[in-house]
Amino acid sequence: MSGIHKHKERGERLYPKKNSSRYYILSLLRLVNEEILENIQPNSTMLDFGCGNMPYRRLYETKCKYLGVDFEGNEDADIYFESGKIPMRDNTVDYIISTQVLEHVVSPEEYLSECFRVLKKDGKLLLSTHGHWKYHPDPTDYWRWTKDGLEKLLSDNQFETTHTYGLMGLAASGLQLFQDGFSPNLHYRFKGLFFWIIAYLQVKIDKWNLYSRDASVFFTISQKK
Ligand SMILES: C[S@@+](CC[C@H](N)C(=O)[O-])C[C@H]1O[C@@H](n2cnc3c(N)ncnc32)[C@H](O)[C@@H]1O
Repeated sequence: MSGIHKHKERGERLYPKKNSSRYYILSLLRLVNEEILENIQPNSTMLDFGCGNMPYRRLYETKCKYLGVDFEGNEDADIYFESGKIPMRDNTVDYIISTQVLEHVVSPEEYLSECFRVLKKDGKLLLSTHGHWKYHPDPTDYWRWTKDGLEKLLSDNQFETTHTYGLMGLAASGLQLFQDGFSPNLHYRFKGLFFWIIAYLQVKIDKWNLYSRDASVFFTISQKK
């Protein structure tokens, strides 16, 4: 993929178009990340663990030294896993950001233990993952959570959750699932309009609520116990 295309794709994750199939959820995610950014310590270090193409890099880079780690082959990553581990010493980073990675990892416990190892004592883990969502392997897709289940998993792995956002309530999540199930049958000419209508209904019903109990995405802020 050329540099221009990568940049465009990242920009569309951060500022999705209204006729995008992910307009509402990506817009909510941007709002949460912008809120979190306000409390990020200047000149800190942030590691994006399972970085993909780092949709939020350009937000956080305004305050942090930002590093992306992923599997070899991801040309966007700054560093690569070595034998499944992050090639960094213990207690070195101020923040770990993990967006839509946890549902893809074979062992959430091992992933969180690696987060714990690399984070400084007073570091923070910023982690988002799915509640209600379609199957989307990258390269696999193992898990879904409730708010309680995710907070318990974090607690069982030595993290105290101080804040949990819940993005897209039950009705908006239902519309998303209906859209993702139905749109493959639609002629491509009608897809943009269909996505626009679904996004319009989601906004009307859900009203930009960041604290739904039944949610498509949970975004947690945790610290080491
Ligand atoms: C859906 S993508 C999300 C990428 C990016 N964080 C984002 O929000 O766009 C899932 C990412 O998790 C990474 N991943 C999958 N299994 C992993 C593991 N066991 N440890 C760390 N990262 C993993 C994949 O390489 C991929 O980049």
